[in-house]
Amino acid sequence: MLNDQDRIFTNLYGRQDPGLKAALMRGNWDGTKKLIEMGRDWIIDEMKASGLRGRGGAGFPTGMKWSFMPKVNDGRPHYLVINGDESEPGTCKDREILRHDPHLLIEGAMLACVAMGAHAAYIYIRGEFIAERIALQKAVDEAYEAKLIGKDNKHGYPFDFYVHHGAGAYICGEETALLESLEGKKGQPRLKPPFPANMGLYGCPTTVNNVESIAVAGTILRRGAGWFNGIGRPNNVGTKLFCVSGHVNTPCNVEEAMGLTFRELIDKHCGGIRGGWDNLKAVIPGGSSVPMVPAEQIIDAPMDFDTLRALRSGLGTAAVIVLDKQTDLVSAIARLAHFYKHESCGQCTPCREGTGWMARVMARMAEGRAQKKEIDMLLDVSTRIEGHTICALGDAAAWPIQGLIRHFRHEIEAKIDQYAANPHSDPVPVAAE
Ligand SMILES: Cc1cc2nc3c(=O)[nH]c(=O)nc-3n(C[C@H](O)[C@H](O)[C@H](O)COP(=O)(O)O)c2cc1C
Ligand code: SF4
Repeated sequence: MLNDQDRIFTNLYGRQDPGLKAALMRGNWDGTKKLIEMGRDWIIDEMKASGLRGRGGAGFPTGMKWSFMPKVNDGRPHYLVINGDESEPGTCKDREILRHDPHLLIEGAMLACVAMGAHAAYIYIRGEFIAERIALQKAVDEAYEAKLIGKDNKHGYPFDFYVHHGAGAYICGEETALLESLEGKKGQPRLKPPFPANMGLYGCPTTVNNVESIAVAGTILRRGAGWFNGIGRPNNVGTKLFCVSGHVNTPCNVEEAMGLTFRELIDKHCGGIRGGWDNLKAVIPGGSSVPMVPAEQIIDAPMDFDTLRALRSGLGTAAVIVLDKQTDLVSAIARLAHFYKHESCGQCTPCREGTGWMARVMARMAEGRAQKKEIDMLLDVSTRIEGHTICALGDAAAWPIQGLIRHFRHEIEAKIDQYAANPHSDPVPVAAE
C-alpha cells in the first residue's frame, strides 16, 4: 500500500488552497526550469523508464506515445491536447485534479510539450464541469501572471495553455471526436490512420493524454523514473487514483499503489462492503465499459492492468463500481445499455443500430419479457459490434453485456422463468422488435 510520502496528489481532497502560493509550498513548479533544460530526449527516456501507462482507460505507455511525435518540425506547430472529458460512468478522478491540484496539471503539460516539441497545450473539459473550469482557469491565470508560463516566461520555453469547455457528450472523450469538437465541428470520431501524432488538431502533429497522465509527469521527473517504477508490480507500476462507488460503506477517491488487492482497497479506504464481505456479488473494476468480475474472482486480485485483463475485464480508468447481493444485475446492465445507446454518435451501423437493439432487448430481459434463446442471440450480436466500429464506444457497449452473460446468465434465466410463471396479457415480443 502507498506511503504518504509517495503521494503525488497531496491536495486531492481540497483541504489546502489550490492556488499558486499553496501549490508552491506543496512542491509544484519546483526545479521545473532544470527539468526543461535536461531536454526533450531525457524527458521521454525518463517517462519511458518510469513505466507510466496512460490513465485514460487503455493503459498505453505514455513515454512511448510522446516519442511518436515527429522529431523534426516540418513547419506545422505541434500540440498537446489534454482529455478532461471524464464522462465514463463511475469515473470521478480528473475533476478532483482540476479543482484541487491544477498546478500539477499545468506544470506537467509544459514538460510534456517540451518532450514533444510543442509550445501549446489545449485542455478539453467536460461540459458539466463548471467549477472545474473556473478553478483551472484561475490557476492558468496565476501561472501566466507569475511568468511560469507564457511566451516570455522564467523557464525560457515559450508555452501557452488554453482551456476549452465542451458541451457535455461522452463521445467527445474519444480522442479524435475530441479533436473534431475542439475544432468547432460535430464531435464524431475520425477514421485512423492518419493518427493524431501525424495529423491531429488543425491537421498538425498532436498527442492526446488524460488529465491524470499529464498531472503525474512533473513529480515523476522530479523524483525519478526509478521511484515511480518501484511502486507496484512489473508492467503495472506507480500510484493510481481509484474512484470507488456503489455498495461500500464509504465511497471515495483515493491515490493508492497500483496492484494493491481489491480487499485492501475496500477495507483500508471504503469501510468495507455494505453488509460485509459475504454480501459482495460482483465488481465492475474500471468504469462502466469493462465487463464485471464475480466476487470470488476479484476479492484477492491485485488491482492492475494485467491481472484484470487476465480476468477478462480491465483496469480502465480504475473507477471501481461495487455491486452487492441486493443488486439486480440485469437491470443494472440494462441501464448501462441505455447509456451507450444514448451516447452513440450514430456514424457507423453496428454501433448505431446495435446499441439500440441491445438496449431494447436488455430492457425486456430486465423485466423477464424475453425468451431464453435470445440470450445467445444477444451475445452473438454483441460480438458483431465489438471490434467492428470506428471507435471503441462499440466495444464499451458490448462488454458489460458480455460480462453479465458470461457470469450471471442464470439471473437472466431466472427473470424469464419468473415472468413465464406469471405473464402479463401482452405477448412476449421477439428480439428483432
Ligand atoms: C467513447 C470513449 C470515451 C472516452 N472518454 C475518455 C475520457 O473522458 N477521458 C480520457 O482521458 N480518455 C477517454 N477515452 C480514451 C481516449 O480516446 C484516449 O485513449 C485517452 O485520452 C488517451 O490518454 P492516455 O494515453 O493518457 O490514457 C475515451 C475513449 C472512448 C472510446
Ligand atoms: S462506434 Fe459508435 S460512437 Fe464510435 S464512431 Fe461508431 S457510431 Fe460513433
